[in-house]
Amino acid sequence: MKIPHDKPVLVTSALPYVNGECHIGHLRTYVPADICVRMLRKMGYRVIFISGSDTHGTPIVLSAEAEGTTPEAVVERYHEHFRRVFDALNVDFDYYGRTDSPANHARTEEIVKDLMARGYVYRKKTKQAYCNTCGRFLPDRYVEGICPYCGTLARGDECDQGCGRHLEPGEIEEPRCKICGSAAVYKDQEHFFFKLSAFSHFLLSYLHGLEGTANARNYALEWVKRELRDWCITRNLEWGVKFPGRDDLVVYVWVDAPIGYISFTEELLRERGEDDTEWARYWKNNEATIIHFIGTDIIYHHCIFWPAMLKGAGYSLPRAVIASGMVKINGKTFSKSRGNVVWASEFLERFHPDMLRYYLVAQSSHTKELDFSWDSFFMRVNNELVAILGNLAYRVLTFTYKHFGMVPAGEIEDEVTSAIESATAEVLSAMENYEFKKMVDATMGLANFGNSYFQREEPWHLIKGDEDARRRCGTIIKNVLQILKSICILLEPVMPEKMGEMWFQLGMETDLHATKIEDLRAPIRTGQKLNKPAVLFQRVG
Ligand code: 2FM
Ligand code: ZN
Repeated sequence: MKIPHDKPVLVTSALPYVNGECHIGHLRTYVPADICVRMLRKMGYRVIFISGSDTHGTPIVLSAEAEGTTPEAVVERYHEHFRRVFDALNVDFDYYGRTDSPANHARTEEIVKDLMARGYVYRKKTKQAYCNTCGRFLPDRYVEGICPYCGTLARGDECDQGCGRHLEPGEIEEPRCKICGSAAVYKDQEHFFFKLSAFSHFLLSYLHGLEGTANARNYALEWVKRELRDWCITRNLEWGVKFPGRDDLVVYVWVDAPIGYISFTEELLRERGEDDTEWARYWKNNEATIIHFIGTDIIYHHCIFWPAMLKGAGYSLPRAVIASGMVKINGKTFSKSRGNVVWASEFLERFHPDMLRYYLVAQSSHTKELDFSWDSFFMRVNNELVAILGNLAYRVLTFTYKHFGMVPAGEIEDEVTSAIESATAEVLSAMENYEFKKMVDATMGLANFGNSYFQREEPWHLIKGDEDARRRCGTIIKNVLQILKSICILLEPVMPEKMGEMWFQLGMETDLHATKIEDLRAPIRTGQKLNKPAVLFQRVG
């Protein structure tokens, strides 16, 4: 897609439920989002990057019950945990908030009241699962049963293992209480509903123009074409944002969670000392480009509920939704309870974060499933980062450091310029289509070219020759250094630390993270002193 250059860009990454540790499944959304933000900045866009902890809903309350503690304590612990993991991985949000903040409570209340005032919320008697043994209602994940659409075992509000549909309270068949395991019954209760069905026409036309990845648009269109049912937006829970005027009800977590995107924008801009109305440029007046990064499991929420809520309450609409495919582990569905999981901390204790960042985008294209295995991780690192990129950098830099100590004189040759130009064009076009794998593949192709060029020109013979041969040797080296410089800029979004190290070894004095795409066209400065080279990537496995 072509994002307009004259508007600020707001990139969000889905808010993790902070009810457990961060795992590789989460990172498949956050890392590419961070890569995209860094690349957009290189392309000259003004970007703010936002995420935060999803602190409400039954995922949190159930974990608290299981641990014999309070939702607040669970949130506190895992909110800090997620922040630490993001820091360690250089996922560099401008703001990382939490949905239990006063600003999010206030914004949620305001939006719900707006929707009520515009006639989009009504009361209705509904069936709610109730456990006679525990003596309480069973919202969302408190209940388990059979999905009425595909017959798979499902959670109360979502067919998470089957067809992926959002399930309304009362829909699940053969309901059972998740706490005590006994059969639940349905009881009538009055709840509040959002008139989602009134938005069918709007959603059809909105989704046709929605940019981002095709999977998000197509799934959502299919659902809208089939039928849209109104959406129950209140729950019998203590923990959450109170429904306006009702102390006994909170709003469904999928109301206040995405509203976090708005309130975190408000919080960030306030923190930056901006005017109190500045957030409205992003969320009320269509003066910004809003891009959401999510996983395919939450397409329904982001492409159907969320735009309908925004439209209904008079807010700006997202321009693009980018949905990453799910992660499997050794071909098996990811599952914490079955131990089929790879934790972020496990990775970070053993490997450099850039290796994981690289793997997450290089292993499979963004919308496809990623099947993680340690072997595939070791292969990517050893065969690509070590054997292609690390090898090129170390060979060239040690040779240059030893024989020249600085960038030698010489013209950049046409074939090198054209290899750099075509890799850059591929990277930019891949970026426009959110094809992060193609982005890294194109840059690794340039590293491959660098290796063949260095090998073919045999500078180690030239350096021993006469003055002309040594001059030619200098030219070859200068050309390969130019390739290395370009690779640093093109791969900085993917491996910010490692490319920073290579930039330093090249003797560059500017800040790599602030470089723009145009900077890779400037010839590396003759006479610039190199710093002592060191191996960038060690073999793993
Ligand atoms: O599915 C989840 O993990 C949710 N916590 C995502 C929320 S994203 C946003 F809408 F807040
Ligand atoms: Zn189903």
